[in-house]
Amino acid sequence: MRRYHSGRDFTRAHSIAELAHLARRRLPHFAWEYLEGGAEEEHTLARNRQGFADIGLAPRTLVPCSTTHTGRTLFGRDLPLPMAIGPTGYNAMLYRDADIHLARAATERGLPFTLSTVSTSSLEEVVQAVPEVNLWFQLYCLRSAQVQESLLARAEAVGCSTLLLTSDAVVLGNREWDRRNFSQPRQLSWRNKFDVLAHPRWMLQALWPKGMPSMGNLQPYLPAEQRTAAGAAHFIGAQMDTALDWDALARLRDRWQGRLLLKGVLHPADAEQAVALGLDGLVISNHGGRQLDGAPASIDCLPAIAAVAQGKLSLLLDSGVRRGSDILKACALGADAVLLGRATLYGVAVGGQAGAGHALDVLARELRLALALLGQPNLAQLDRHWLNTRL
Ligand code: FNR
Repeated sequence: MRRYHSGRDFTRAHSIAELAHLARRRLPHFAWEYLEGGAEEEHTLARNRQGFADIGLAPRTLVPCSTTHTGRTLFGRDLPLPMAIGPTGYNAMLYRDADIHLARAATERGLPFTLSTVSTSSLEEVVQAVPEVNLWFQLYCLRSAQVQESLLARAEAVGCSTLLLTSDAVVLGNREWDRRNFSQPRQLSWRNKFDVLAHPRWMLQALWPKGMPSMGNLQPYLPAEQRTAAGAAHFIGAQMDTALDWDALARLRDRWQGRLLLKGVLHPADAEQAVALGLDGLVISNHGGRQLDGAPASIDCLPAIAAVAQGKLSLLLDSGVRRGSDILKACALGADAVLLGRATLYGVAVGGQAGAGHALDVLARELRLALALLGQPNLAQLDRHWLNTRL
């Protein structure tokens, strides 16, 4: 058991795990469970970390390493690091205006930021606050063709270059903590209301002065009396299109002129279909272990998917990335970049923009160090020969 430092100063956190420790202390229990929890027994959640742990490294020695190269060209843009902030909904429950803080932290470091359909800040608010953001938008397929078209048109109007369609959450995973903590959608149980009172710093940072945030992107579609968090949660629950299939994705391919990625792929046969449809990329993801418990770790699925897809579309990976060496392993197995979910959420929860930036800097520092220790200072030269793995 590690002993982390006991203060509140997040800049002294040496790792993502230490940021998580601080976030857990800062947040009321219901918000912490929302951030950290997985589905059912959390087997997949645990497997995501174990998958990375099971991959060993094969270092070489006597290699000069005073300079490391971590750059990547992704979708025609040079990125200083092979990472982007992935989509997570309802971020302002962790820290007021968290989407904007995350977007600023990513933009300061030349990295893309992905806004969720169910974000708290809207597309327009993010772009107004961070005009230079490299903004990606995550779409949940909705039953109402008008609402979906309106979201796509808004994403285009604010200059989103890249659209991620999330396919693994058309029905919500079995998250018992969610049902336990809320007596009705977004209505806290009494036990949790008392716990909130025991976290005055969080109340000041997240709730004050407007109360529970609502979902910014959905406001135009909600009746006036339902523009609350509960109203938005009800709306999105009813709107999820459970008929989503490959034909719907083909129609979206025709409709969306920008880059289109499918998020939630774990099987090479699905990757083959995505290639045939002319998609630009995949996100190999199990939604951070929040959907199907028992699904494999994303990193375990990467080699087989890379074998069918590499060179034909870009490969991103998420779920369980907590160390620079995880990013190194994903890139060695064929990923172009990783998406960050909880890693940057821990940061934003403890320190807004600076906290999210600290999380990104920790990962960047660890990645450079791991490359130097491996004896391969250039990320672009990595392949599976640098790994000790049966994958
Ligand atoms: C998510 N994720 C997610 N994905 C998505 O496509 N739309 C969304 O709105 C959300 N919301 C969301 C909220 C929270 C609190 C979490 C933790 C995750 C999934 C996310 O994009 C990503 O796949 C996972 O977070 C990756 O796993 P790790 O790195 O967080 O373990």
